[in-house]
Amino acid sequence: MNKTSNQMIVIFGASGDLTARKLIPAIYNLYKGKHLPENFVVLGASRSNITDGEFRKKVVQESAHLKSELKGQDADFINSFSDKLFYEDLGDDYDTDYDRLSKRISDLNTKFSTDNNYIFYLSTPPSLYEAIAKNLSDQGLTNEDEGWKRIVVEKPFGYSLETAKNLNTGLQKYFKETQIYRIDHYLGKETVQNLLVTRFANSIFEPLWNRNYIHHIEITNAETVGVEKRGGYYDKSGALRDMFQSHLLQIVSLIVMEPPINSNAEEIRNEKVKALKSLRIMTDDETLFNNTIKGQYVSSKIDGKAVKGYREEEGVDPESKTETYAAVKFFVDNWRWKDIPFYVRTAKRMPTKVTEVVIHFKTPHHQVFKEQDINNKDNKLIIRIQPDEGVLIKFGVKVPGQGFQVERANLDFYYSSLPNANIMEAYERLLLDAMQGDATLYARADEVEAAWSFVDPILNYWERDENVNTYGYPAGTWGPRNSDDLIDDEYTWRNPGENLVDDSGYCVIN
Ligand code: BG6
Repeated sequence: MNKTSNQMIVIFGASGDLTARKLIPAIYNLYKGKHLPENFVVLGASRSNITDGEFRKKVVQESAHLKSELKGQDADFINSFSDKLFYEDLGDDYDTDYDRLSKRISDLNTKFSTDNNYIFYLSTPPSLYEAIAKNLSDQGLTNEDEGWKRIVVEKPFGYSLETAKNLNTGLQKYFKETQIYRIDHYLGKETVQNLLVTRFANSIFEPLWNRNYIHHIEITNAETVGVEKRGGYYDKSGALRDMFQSHLLQIVSLIVMEPPINSNAEEIRNEKVKALKSLRIMTDDETLFNNTIKGQYVSSKIDGKAVKGYREEEGVDPESKTETYAAVKFFVDNWRWKDIPFYVRTAKRMPTKVTEVVIHFKTPHHQVFKEQDINNKDNKLIIRIQPDEGVLIKFGVKVPGQGFQVERANLDFYYSSLPNANIMEAYERLLLDAMQGDATLYARADEVEAAWSFVDPILNYWERDENVNTYGYPAGTWGPRNSDDLIDDEYTWRNPGENLVDDSGYCVIN
């Protein structure tokens, strides 16, 4: 276990939603779990003119996001946690005079002996990243002569390949790449990390993990929610930028990658970047047309209740063509995966919230038992990222009785069955890693750029070509009617249910 040295976390954008919703609850849980170092301070910095006390009230004592956690907790315990929180008003602008902020950091560092170790957590729009980095550098706050300095940035890392590159060079002017931590909360999920363990800590999967045995791979990320209050942001982003470029391509890289030499951050990230670079970039319009589907939810009734269509959502252009459903078929140009199709889809307003990876194995090359319904009996390995986290293997068993009729059976494992199933929330895990200087679960600049290189041509094609349809799908359904057309042969998407073992067609409509 790595040691967590004394340190201060400076959160930019501390009066925003993410700080109250995710960051402070994660830090609180780390405190409760005794993971924080002896000397530890959080300094919130933002444009609201509030005091330390008001900040503590907002993000701890009166926070709706900590309410259930704090219920029944001893008041002294809660106060001892909130006493670690401070606040500094940055004035009207993030590109302002940082003398006062720098002085405050230095005073708190002296008073609480945080050993000049600082994490700067940027929970602000990306357009401010470079200005903040420059101001910190001007104040000597990036210098590691005494104590380490790290900067954590939130997605989106860019809007396109070009803007991602600019963002990276902007940050790298002031911070070394090893000081930069790009957070992708999917990498903080236990089940996403377990992809590495499933593959590389077992001898039963990896020998089959290639084109000789795998027929195709399917990844579904479905959400029941619509765009909620984020219409303004989402309408400029869309599903491909919001989920696919980051979270889903991270999952893809873990499935595609070659075994790393060891589990060091750089070794793992080297393999991930190689994997992302081997995705076949689609360049011509015909390929892009045949291998991508874009959709948008339209108003419908779910469980008897009327649900708004995307275009009726707050902050969304009533004529918007932004996709809330994106499905992409692609190939990976390397020795292991040649000619094996990958199908990845992500969408809002689907029947159930679920993320899973399905590895479809090829049918046995010589059919001893005559099966007509091959599609239903292929071996599958299903890795459930969320909810009902677990792993399911589908395999053929003999139906009792005469002859050799084959039926499918399930072999399932659930995380909840582990004796120590106290799963750390993604932000908790990732923050603790950054506090300990472990970048394994953070995206490196070259990974982000490789992911954008693959996504950029799809986005450009969708934006430029009039033949690209945005297919409507009723809120609460599995996407556009033609969504199965993307998948070759007799296969279809495995529309999964809330429970790992549910088969297609089962779903929970909340
Ligand atoms: C975020 C996206 O990164 O991930 C959201 O911006 C999305 O649109 C969210 O809802 C999904 O995260 P999770 O952990 O609930 O699957």
